[in-house]
Amino acid sequence: MKRVAVLTSGGDSPGMNAAIRAVIRSAEHFGFQIFGVRFGYRGLIKGDFVPFTSSDASGIIQRGGTILKSARSDEFMTKEGRQKAADQLKDKKIEALVVIGGDGTFRGATVLAKEHGIKVVGIPGTIDNDLIGSDETIGYDTALNTAMEAIDKIRDTADAHERLFLIEVMGRHAGFVALETGLASGAELVILPEYNRDIDEIKSSLKEILKVHSRSTLVIVAEGEQTGGAVKLGEQLEPEFKQYDMRVAILGHIQRGGSPTAHDRVLASRLGYEAVKALKDGLSGVMVGVINNEVEITPLEETFEKIKKIDFDLVELSKVLR
Ligand code: F6P
Repeated sequence: MKRVAVLTSGGDSPGMNAAIRAVIRSAEHFGFQIFGVRFGYRGLIKGDFVPFTSSDASGIIQRGGTILKSARSDEFMTKEGRQKAADQLKDKKIEALVVIGGDGTFRGATVLAKEHGIKVVGIPGTIDNDLIGSDETIGYDTALNTAMEAIDKIRDTADAHERLFLIEVMGRHAGFVALETGLASGAELVILPEYNRDIDEIKSSLKEILKVHSRSTLVIVAEGEQTGGAVKLGEQLEPEFKQYDMRVAILGHIQRGGSPTAHDRVLASRLGYEAVKALKDGLSGVMVGVINNEVEITPLEETFEKIKKIDFDLVELSKVLR
């Protein structure tokens, strides 16, 4: 095998550039010719390839976003779309693809490999941290720190007015960001998709908390939780909690941006290297990850078919420490 391509797909995450850098330099190290595909699967269908050399990896380790750009492609979800993508790869004599992204990216890669015999290796890159096969995904640590810093600032103003705040953090189907930012920022309550709480239970927890917390109260709400996020939850709470001058803050896409933390840069560097090494060793249809600080290889399908569990001990801890 001589030619390998790399792409980033789905929601970008801080550290994707560090992973691209590691893929480029490791590919050179192992003697592969390396190409970048711009705009994820959308670019793959169109044949938007750029040849990479080691110097293209200079000065990007510290940059947020992705120099390859990213996209969510509906066309790639169709058989015809994947056929076009495979044709582009075959046309350029590229045999293998390194895909950096989350569950949607890996679903697409799995089908592409099965239908067209393209070799694929995945690198977990999503702030949601919702993939089996790696304790952490690239970008998660940076997103936690970004959210925590924003929440600390909200705490100042919440204290000043002795207000109740509902703060929504990202996590489409998973509460990892909400749980850990909640713990790290000393939030009084966390609302998670994995932790089934109906509105009455939320109200009664909040009433208990408000009995003892007069300074300020922060509730961290995962966007994917049952009531539909902080705005909807706020509307349901408003009538009974009027006297706390409640405010809603949605942290949104700031959580996806910014310079990656040292932790994410190191993780991305390790995984970028391991992905190329996996291809060199003849592996395909797998994701590289780090579990208990050891590199682990997991079948791509397992990474998104099984649901990664949040740590319920941390949920209990957040209740004890609030
Ligand atoms: O999967 C990462 C993520 O940031 C989720 O937390 C969020 O729900 C989603 O992407 C937002 O996607 P978009 O940027 O396409 O609106």
